[in-house]
Amino acid sequence: MTAGEQVVARCRALAEVSEERGRLTRPFATAAMARANAKVGTWMRAAGLAVSVDAMGNLVGRRPGTDPAAGTLLLGSHLDSVRDAGAFDGPLGVLVAVEALARLGPLPFGVDVYGFADEEGLRYGTAYLGSRTVAGTLDPAVLMLADDDDVTVAEALRAFGGDPAALPAAARTGERLLGYVEVHMEQGPVLEREGAAVGVVSAIAGATRAELRFQGQPGHAGTVPMEARRDAACAAAAWVLEVEAAGRATPGLLATVGRLTAHPGATNVIPGRVLASLDVRHAVDADRLGTVATLHAAAGAAAAARDVSLDWQVVLDNPAVAVDPGLTALLDACVHDRTGAPAPHLPSGAGHDAVALSALCPVAMLFVRCAGGLSHHPAEDVAAGDAALAVDVLAALLGRLAAA
Ligand code: HGY
Ligand code: MN
Ligand code: MN
Repeated sequence: MTAGEQVVARCRALAEVSEERGRLTRPFATAAMARANAKVGTWMRAAGLAVSVDAMGNLVGRRPGTDPAAGTLLLGSHLDSVRDAGAFDGPLGVLVAVEALARLGPLPFGVDVYGFADEEGLRYGTAYLGSRTVAGTLDPAVLMLADDDDVTVAEALRAFGGDPAALPAAARTGERLLGYVEVHMEQGPVLEREGAAVGVVSAIAGATRAELRFQGQPGHAGTVPMEARRDAACAAAAWVLEVEAAGRATPGLLATVGRLTAHPGATNVIPGRVLASLDVRHAVDADRLGTVATLHAAAGAAAAARDVSLDWQVVLDNPAVAVDPGLTALLDACVHDRTGAPAPHLPSGAGHDAVALSALCPVAMLFVRCAGGLSHHPAEDVAAGDAALAVDVLAALLGRLAAA
């Protein structure tokens, strides 16, 4: 089995580890996440790494360097998933890193491979709980966020075997870190369109997430006159179309309402409450923030027009991230050595743990081609030959850093 075939096979085996039957859903601090940590931990040990789980539930595979003064390079990606996910978003980066280390002899610097516990934010609506812990930027207030079952982050973490009180000790601040390099599937169509197996990330778009609650008046669908209603669903629906219009009107802007839930959710009851999510992305922070402000005002207007109240809460706000020129140049050189051609450079519209870790150390990312650019979908697919090239490039980068 080639290195690429092994990475793909392991991603597919890991995709069977889910909280839900028949599809991959692996949220933060769940039994499925514990099983995923155990499975990947076995593969990390087989590659000679010392395995641990930190206070936030991040899986860590550690290989010390031969020179304690040489510092540490961080590698990895995330092991949590969205709902009904594909096999490669996250695990590809963890398993490529494990495979690259398995083939290398001793290095002067240490290497820690992270399987981050919560990049997607599926369970708590926010994101990067794992990588923000490592970066030392986690806002303690997030520990009080509650999931749909009213379980807080702190309670879920304790039940998982983590320790909210020990989170500061899991931060890597103050250490000599060479940087963080993340391998990730592209989750878009560019590399496939350009016939390139891998690409180098030029920047990561900024992202804002908000949670909205439209609060009207529930009532009998058969007796309340239309003009007397305070219908939360109509207010939300009018706003959703404004979100779409804003996304279409602004070049490079992506705006999405991924969650829209009417309560109490009965056919013959006027919705008294609607919960909605908003996700806005743009490479330029001013454009993103301007659109968020516009959509906040639009939500208020749509609510007021129907005598509905609005609660608006921003739960994530990440500026665009610049990648490190030095590490990126190294990736470029390693790709060129292996392919004989310069790597395509492309921005990432998707967020990654590199966003959180950019607060801690220099970051760089290598993208891997994916079938049809599809992601956040069970049909996600990465070719073994492309995964093999990613392993070669990452191993070559480690070799160049060791020789530097
Ligand atoms: O939402 C994102 O961009 C990433 O998949 N967490
Ligand atoms: Mn991802
Ligand atoms: Mn994702």
